[in-house]
Amino acid sequence: MRILAIETSCDETAAAVVVGDPSKDSGVMVERSIVASQIDLHQKYGGVYPEVASREHGKKIIPVLCEALELGGADPTRLPDFAWHGIDAIAVTHGPGLIGSLLVGTQTAATIALTTNTPLIAVNHLAGHIYASFISEADATTPQFPLMALVVSGGHTMLVYMKGHHQYQLLGQTRDDAAGEAFDKVAKLLGLPYPGGPHVSRMAQGGNREAYSFPIGLEHEATLDFSFSGLKTAVLRAVAARPMMTDIAKADIAASFERAVVDALLQKTARALDQFPVRHFVLGGGVAANTYLRERLTSYLAHRTSRVVCHIPKLAWCTDNAAVIGAGAVYQSTKPTLPEELITYARLPLAG
Ligand code: KG4
Ligand code: ZN
Repeated sequence: MRILAIETSCDETAAAVVVGDPSKDSGVMVERSIVASQIDLHQKYGGVYPEVASREHGKKIIPVLCEALELGGADPTRLPDFAWHGIDAIAVTHGPGLIGSLLVGTQTAATIALTTNTPLIAVNHLAGHIYASFISEADATTPQFPLMALVVSGGHTMLVYMKGHHQYQLLGQTRDDAAGEAFDKVAKLLGLPYPGGPHVSRMAQGGNREAYSFPIGLEHEATLDFSFSGLKTAVLRAVAARPMMTDIAKADIAASFERAVVDALLQKTARALDQFPVRHFVLGGGVAANTYLRERLTSYLAHRTSRVVCHIPKLAWCTDNAAVIGAGAVYQSTKPTLPEELITYARLPLAG
């Protein structure tokens, strides 16, 4: 089936066309994926400004859709009849996220579904981050169930066990800040722009990972939950103690911070794998774009006594985009939502 997917949960207006067969193991093919980022607009606020985000989605959604559907220079005020030909379903993120942003996507998708009589599939944004690994790549295999997933994004950090498609068992999650949020806050402390993750990561490359021994949240507790607020406070203290910091001193903080985040993620992953043995592991979310995390996780999983196949999406499928929402929708196509019953959620747990 060929799916048009829409994602507007935060600050990227995205649309994609994907093709997949849920009865086959071959994964999902991305025909086209368009992302209009709003980063430049939000940088002056040091974070996403919700009102600005939803207005911008309103401006961008039709041009982004036209581009995803390859309508070229078509007049966006009069889409041609053939625009929806060959589309078997419309997928859209219905939560979690910023309500004003989500509504632009859900209302657009519901209207298209209603007027073209096409099935509508409501996808959880977090499921999208997991299904990024089901996008087929030339050199990779499709994940097999049961699997474990680690989702690390700007708003979430969670370990999930899956017995089958869209069957989620939450094993642990953050009790305070998400991993991406910690990167963004530490970036601010180091005077780096929003979104902080890539900047902190770049700065960390020149630093000493052993310079500071920052705390690992809930290290000595049996839980599979995470906590990053103590780490953030420790970084704040380290920065406050040195008001005139050289670039090298900043790099040491960035590197030690990054190590503490990755140590925490790996420690809970190891514990979860001991309790829920699986052969396949999936990493997803914006922080999955982090090179140091990708390397450490790959090496750890390759060296476990019982080897675990590690699936890490390519960079474009880690941060927000619509192709991953389409990938999630392929395996959810038997459960369409009526356009008039499509609800948008600021908070939406993975269910099933
Ligand atoms: O998944 P995502 O694009 O949006 C949410 O669903 O939240 O994740 C965005 C988060 C931001 O906090 C950003 O700083 C972080 O992902 N991020 C990174 C990297 N690239 C993006 N964090 C660490 N290293 C990176 N390379
Ligand atoms: Zn996301």
